Amino acid sequence: MSSNTTSHVAVWSQLEGLSGNDLTAWRMNPVDNRASISERNLDTLPMPFGWFMVAYTDELLVGEVKPLFYFGKDLVLWRGEDGRARVIDAYCKHLGAHMGYGGRVKGNSLECPFHAWEYNSKGSVVAVPYAKKIPPSAARPCEKEWIVKESNKQILVWYHPFNEPPKWQPETFEQVYDTNWTDYKKYEWIVHGPVQNMAENGVDAAHFKYIHGTNDFPDYDFEFDGHKRTASVDAKMPTPKGVVDGTIAYGTVGAGQSWTKFSGISETLMVAGITPIDQERTHIRFAFTQPKTEAEGPMASLAKAMRREICKQLDQDKVVWDRQKYMPKPSICDGDGPILPFRKYFSQFYAEWGNDKKQMTKLKMDNRTE
Ligand code: FES
Ligand SMILES: [Fe+2]
Repeated sequence: MSSNTTSHVAVWSQLEGLSGNDLTAWRMNPVDNRASISERNLDTLPMPFGWFMVAYTDELLVGEVKPLFYFGKDLVLWRGEDGRARVIDAYCKHLGAHMGYGGRVKGNSLECPFHAWEYNSKGSVVAVPYAKKIPPSAARPCEKEWIVKESNKQILVWYHPFNEPPKWQPETFEQVYDTNWTDYKKYEWIVHGPVQNMAENGVDAAHFKYIHGTNDFPDYDFEFDGHKRTASVDAKMPTPKGVVDGTIAYGTVGAGQSWTKFSGISETLMVAGITPIDQERTHIRFAFTQPKTEAEGPMASLAKAMRREICKQLDQDKVVWDRQKYMPKPSICDGDGPILPFRKYFSQFYAEWGNDKKQMTKLKMDNRTE
């Protein structure tokens, strides 16, 4: 870990003085003085398909309705009396009210606030209280069905631009449900950049030293396997009790789900949700769980320092990501890590490029030989 060295990294000039509420606001606020989407080549990247988090499970009680804006679309989320979360397009087929504002749950259906038409989870109108017949165009399911799943105390939806069904299932972590582990500690950011730039960070071996202030370039072992990507590194972590041998493992499941596990120093699992808002913006949520014996006992300050360090690294990356230009043909040097293999792997999530039809081959590599 690098908490005692990171004040010397160059991006510190952008972050110093930010703390508490100011830092929390900075993480979510719009960014001034950034170039246009086309100037930054962001219009050349499609939106990746996959499972994406849209809310935490505890943010949606039975009977609640919430507006959502993800994938460049207005959506509405509700939880029926049966406890199931549902998502449909936000605009009513009747006269176009946004049902996320004033819509009500009726049984398991969603009632539009304007004239009380009722919708099921497929976007079909199932009742019009003042009409004898439901217009056939309204009774038809929406072209796009939003498939919803709750996993790791997160509400996830499957996004695919051509409405293809899920190609894998989200990964579930048992620690999230273990009563010996803490409830989630949650943090969030809106980054003004696409998911790919963020995902590339994990294989960008050189940036750890310059932007995060680590002493060395990490010796990661990377593995790309179908829609999954994993890496692990044995790290020497300086602690108040001296240097401890630790392990950092991280993985991504598709483009939207990622996790990091620290062991050896203060055991930590971080489950991330990474969701495209539109062509330019991405919503990042980090949720931490740690063993209660470590997070609430005499080790509590170390457990907290662990969370702060990980969030600080995201802050440091965000300074760059918010204005970064996507370079389709970057100049890459030998110490850079497997950036080009990563891009090949990631392109499988771009249905518009036709790459989802190709079977990605298993690729294992050692950063040291890259
Ligand atoms: S606009 Fe929704 S019921 Fe009329
Ligand atoms: Fe980073």
